[in-house]
Amino acid sequence: MTRELVVPDDGERAAFAPIVALAFGTALEDIAPWFERAGFPNLRVLCEADRVLGGLLRVPMAQWFGGRSVATNGVAGVAVAAEERGAGVAGEMMRSFLRETRARGVPLSTLYPATVPLYRRAGYERAGARHRVSVLAERLVTQERGLSVTALLQEDAEVLALHAAFASRRDGYLDRGPYLWDRIFRPRKGQHHAYGVRGPQSLEGYVVYTNKQEHGHDTEIQVLDFVASTGRAVRRLLQLLSDHRSLANRVTWHGASPDVFTMALPDRRHELVAVDHWMLRIVDLPTALGERGFPRVPEGVLELEVDDEVLPENAGRWRVVVEGGRAKVARGGSGALRLDVRALAALYSGYLSVHALAQLDLVDGTANTLDAADRLFPPGNPCMGDMF
Ligand SMILES: CC(C)(COP(=O)(O)OP(=O)(O)OC[C@H]1O[C@@H](n2cnc3c(N)ncnc32)[C@H](O)[C@@H]1OP(=O)(O)O)[C@@H](O)C(=O)NCCC(=O)NCCS
Repeated sequence: MTRELVVPDDGERAAFAPIVALAFGTALEDIAPWFERAGFPNLRVLCEADRVLGGLLRVPMAQWFGGRSVATNGVAGVAVAAEERGAGVAGEMMRSFLRETRARGVPLSTLYPATVPLYRRAGYERAGARHRVSVLAERLVTQERGLSVTALLQEDAEVLALHAAFASRRDGYLDRGPYLWDRIFRPRKGQHHAYGVRGPQSLEGYVVYTNKQEHGHDTEIQVLDFVASTGRAVRRLLQLLSDHRSLANRVTWHGASPDVFTMALPDRRHELVAVDHWMLRIVDLPTALGERGFPRVPEGVLELEVDDEVLPENAGRWRVVVEGGRAKVARGGSGALRLDVRALAALYSGYLSVHALAQLDLVDGTANTLDAADRLFPPGNPCMGDMF
């Protein structure tokens, strides 16, 4: 019987809702609003005749690499009906989804895996972390009160520009689409608060957070978004959060490690944990390499031989010439660096050095070739604060 991954009609969407509710332990009545926020055209279900076997949510957005925004399709809400599990449904959905993503001209796909082997088999690889910082509110005191503080209502143009400038310098941070901005300024749970800190010229930083009663009168602050463009904005935002310390116990935020906020802490004591790792899929190799930024090396050439069973269009030899921070990619070359598309994802994001990947037998090449790859893909610290 033929199976197809499709945008669900009303009936199929209704059939998918309890599958998602069971998979994620969510109340059924919360699923329809979730689908609405994701946008009905972004839902996909795998159908066999009139049965819905499972589905997923597409999250259109982009991700920053080398200071440039590269389009990616996030994947969320992957769920298979309990009675259909263990028979390859999720694997089939992912392969169909990737073919569709490629046909749409989107060069990357990004997700947080609940189980790694499923996504590795589809060609994703671990490519970055999400760190959680947790610190007592009383340890955030910086005494900086030099900027004016004003309430923010939404992600207006000034907020978007400030976020883009901040995120663009951090490999792996999202260039958010509406779904992600919704999660910041219209969170599903809890009352959020948003404040900007403003200098004489412009907005220099902002914080969006919830403050929730936890034990007795004590509260916990969860930061949803934390952005600053100057040192005084970093210190002013820390002070703003510490001004809650009479009742607030802990303050938690997510992002890079180290980040500008932990660097500015006046006290050494804070907890820092890599709570999640996200995975990346190179969906369209020449576009993914052509759209990201590279180090401004005088000139770098890399000749790849790539394996990709799921998207064979990526497989084979590619010649990558990097000049002035941009790459030109064409078919051909000697194939001096041999790797599969998963290793390329870890290299692309800067998660692992080419030498570390060679130690894992995930890439193969001469010492000179590995050194050349290292100059173009220096290991970094790819991170993302967002969860989707
Ligand atoms: C995870 C889930 C989507 C897998 O669906 P499925 O159709 O059974 O998966 P497949 O049969 O295609 O399995 C592919 C591989 O994924 C892995 N996998 C499948 N189910 C798994 C599970 N429950 N736990 C851990 N790994 C699992 C296995 O490695 C499997 O390959 P193998 O059976 O050869 O070892 C399904 O169990 C589900 O809906 N779970 C609840 C929601 C969830 O975790 N979603 C993922 C969010 S990122």
